[in-house]
Amino acid sequence: MLQTKQKIFRSFYFPVMPVADLQDGPKPFKLMGENIVLWLDDEQKPAAAIDRCCHRTARLSKGELRNGCIVCPYHGWAFNRDGKCTWFPQSELEDPPKVYKIKGYHCEERYGYVWVALDTPIRDIPKFRYSDNPDFRKVDEFYEVIHCAAIRLMENSFDVAHVNFVHKNTFGDLDNPIPPKVTITPNEWGFEAYMEIPVHNKLNQKVQALNMDDERTVRKQLSEWFMPFIRQTNITYPTGLIHSIVTCTAPIDDDTCQLVQFVYRNDREEDVSAKSIIAFDRNVVDEDMDVLETTDSNVSLDLAKKVENHMLSDQPGILMRKMLLELFDKYGEQEMC
Ligand code: FES
Ligand SMILES: [Fe+2]
Repeated sequence: MLQTKQKIFRSFYFPVMPVADLQDGPKPFKLMGENIVLWLDDEQKPAAAIDRCCHRTARLSKGELRNGCIVCPYHGWAFNRDGKCTWFPQSELEDPPKVYKIKGYHCEERYGYVWVALDTPIRDIPKFRYSDNPDFRKVDEFYEVIHCAAIRLMENSFDVAHVNFVHKNTFGDLDNPIPPKVTITPNEWGFEAYMEIPVHNKLNQKVQALNMDDERTVRKQLSEWFMPFIRQTNITYPTGLIHSIVTCTAPIDDDTCQLVQFVYRNDREEDVSAKSIIAFDRNVVDEDMDVLETTDSNVSLDLAKKVENHMLSDQPGILMRKMLLELFDKYGEQEMC
């Protein structure tokens, strides 16, 4: 499976940019191989459309805004959030002809990010645990391009076998390579996986991330997969600290994704600073990326048919493939050429 070739992924919302990045004008983004332009309309709501003018194909993202519409830099035609041409200065006609239009996309603001679905969405943007709980603070961590397929990052998030190897310098324990049991509960749009992971509480984790003295601790971890490329990992420590990580990947092209990551925490800035949390998670993400960016972007879904041949810790990744195959089946999926 190559991620931009699966048409049904166009019918999911992906977070593509912090909404604050649009304050100083329109911006380009590439989603599923398609060039799009993002801007704020006259109500300050984010809008998205194809980044290609219907007149002479100029890039609209190089244009300006006029009354909440994106104005083409070439001849000044303006388009609203639905893609309708609202103004073309060369004509004396009151309304531009209806054929003057571009493709507008479904676009929403949520959690401080612009979310875009290229085709009619088949489900809403996920509701994240703790997002409206006043006892939790939100820390925005990472907005960056990563060079691997989105599903590689997703399966990694539920893979307890990699922890002691990839994260040996942060919280893994090479002396204890046998992965813990994972209990998976599927739902309509993904699954929940519960695991209890004994971890080595290395000095940088103790001080930098957890404010905890113990040499070893246990992460009680409830990880949620939101089809196709979003996960929320809710980690509870014995101190009562909850560190809940939301990780989203928006496919840019077949080999590249936009990573959006933020966390919810039930402690306060005085306990552990946001800067410190980000610095620790930076190490963890870098450790994962060192490996993930070496993996093949073309992901075999056939693994789903050979469940019994795999080690137990691979079961979440295999279930992901199985559920994606069912999704393709349900929506009559055909690979796009
Ligand atoms: S190319 Fe956009 S208005 Fe002419
Ligand atoms: Fe990892």
